[in-house]
Amino acid sequence: MTEENRTDTPIEGVWSGLKGRPRSLNPKWFYDACGSALFDAITHQPEYYLTRCEREILEHQGADVARWIGPDMVLAELGPGNGEKAVLLLRQLRRLSAYVPIDISPASLEAAVDGIRQALPGIRVEALCRDFAEGVDWPQYLTSEPRCLAFFGSTIGNMEPKAAVRWLARLRARLRPGEKILLGVDLKKDPQLLHAAYNDAAGVTAAFNLNALSHLNHAIGTDFNPDWFIHQAGYNPDQGRVEMYLQATCDQVVHVGQHVLRLERGERIHTENSYKYTLEELLRLTESAGFATDRVWLDRQRWFSLHGLRA
Ligand code: AVI
Repeated sequence: MTEENRTDTPIEGVWSGLKGRPRSLNPKWFYDACGSALFDAITHQPEYYLTRCEREILEHQGADVARWIGPDMVLAELGPGNGEKAVLLLRQLRRLSAYVPIDISPASLEAAVDGIRQALPGIRVEALCRDFAEGVDWPQYLTSEPRCLAFFGSTIGNMEPKAAVRWLARLRARLRPGEKILLGVDLKKDPQLLHAAYNDAAGVTAAFNLNALSHLNHAIGTDFNPDWFIHQAGYNPDQGRVEMYLQATCDQVVHVGQHVLRLERGERIHTENSYKYTLEELLRLTESAGFATDRVWLDRQRWFSLHGLRA
């Protein structure tokens, strides 16, 4: 949890991150409608291999993944996007009980439900509007069949490793023994590939990062000028993570509610960490959260991994 989560009002939350050293902004500010569209565009950039590799696993090994999930399950997906990855898997699953997309945003849920209904009209879909960052409280009617929870995209990499263990343990506490999690995780690799993935030539990741400032301006009335910042992203090998920053290109003053933020040229605001793991590190992490690893699927380049975990 960041400083920002601990305070009550959005303005005070943002201020507590911005006044700190290092200055920081919670990555949740990436995701307004424009930011979500930009993230979608990132996943289509040639440098952003994560989505491509995970899709390759589902396309080529989906039948095996589906066998591991087994029949008559509830397949719940945390943060389903447009449901595109679930479709790849659902096509392979025999005798599914229900597909349950879970997201805090009703608009995102609608996109997922539409995507699935169009691609696979016969499937029972039960959307759940929940903030899965807090774990998932399951309605009674979804607990009669065994569950498999899918969490694709390496979003777990955006959590601090200790927070990831705590979050997985919270999910685990609400699952019955034998229920499953399918977890997509990006792997450590050549830092040049990582650097390129977060610095695409078309500048989409830069626009995504800078959009957080426009989002803040609209949402809480700050007066950031996004033109006075540049995007920075680089791999930190000591921490095993890609770090993203917004760097001020001139001295400036920004108002955050009653607070005044004075930034000097060159100062940076930390906006995101994206942790990369080795298979061994991930095994230890999920074990600490109480899961056993049944299976691991990799793409041909071994850049991305899908972990079959059992509670
Ligand atoms: C959502 N998450 C897994 C993305 C990532 O790769 O960490 C967010 C992102 N940030 C920049 N590009 C993509």
